[in-house]
Amino acid sequence: MKSLIELAGDLMQMGAPGEEPGYRFLHGMRTAHLADELARREGLRDHIRTDALFLAGLFHDVGKCTASSESDHAEAGADRVRFLLRGKLEPEGIDVVQRAIRWHNKREHYPDDLPLEGLLLQDADLLDHFGATEIWLISYRVAARGGGAKDFLADYREAASWRRYALRSLHYPESRKEIRARMRVGAHFHRQLARETMCIEGELICESIPGNAFWTERP
Ligand SMILES: [Fe+2]
Ligand SMILES: [Fe+2]
Repeated sequence: MKSLIELAGDLMQMGAPGEEPGYRFLHGMRTAHLADELARREGLRDHIRTDALFLAGLFHDVGKCTASSESDHAEAGADRVRFLLRGKLEPEGIDVVQRAIRWHNKREHYPDDLPLEGLLLQDADLLDHFGATEIWLISYRVAARGGGAKDFLADYREAASWRRYALRSLHYPESRKEIRARMRVGAHFHRQLARETMCIEGELICESIPGNAFWTERP
């Protein structure tokens, strides 16, 4: 497993514009661990292939390294992982990893016989976008484009429909419990940042750069 984690690190260490260095690898590792933890909490570890689930989480976005913007990174990743795992996992295990990756981003249309590993991966992948991680990801993206606190607040609010999609797409009760806990962290941070950066007129302090009325009118 260690050599496969190193392989994932080599393949996915490049970040895309606006993403922290190594984001795809880090997201893959977090998703793999989240999927395993979710299987444990749901009492499913004895009913699945834990090795295949971990590898599906680790490599689920490997297709983003090669897929063009028009093509489906899940399809590209499923094709690629078969090649990557050849000789390192037996064919039945590779089939499970490949199917889970192929359907990981199609939460509204997936086959009835999708293995449990596929459903767990779908949930774990979503969970990794929320909580303290969401705050970090938005902060990094905003800072990378030269934005400030005001832009963080706007970006967080704009992600409301994404949060609604995540809430209605999860399969497992433990996933819903976890995402609600994570969303409370994000919402609390957003509220607190808005409160701390708001001046008495209800204007955002982060908008009150020197030269604006807020500064010139002060005694
Ligand atoms: Fe993906
Ligand atoms: Fe992902």
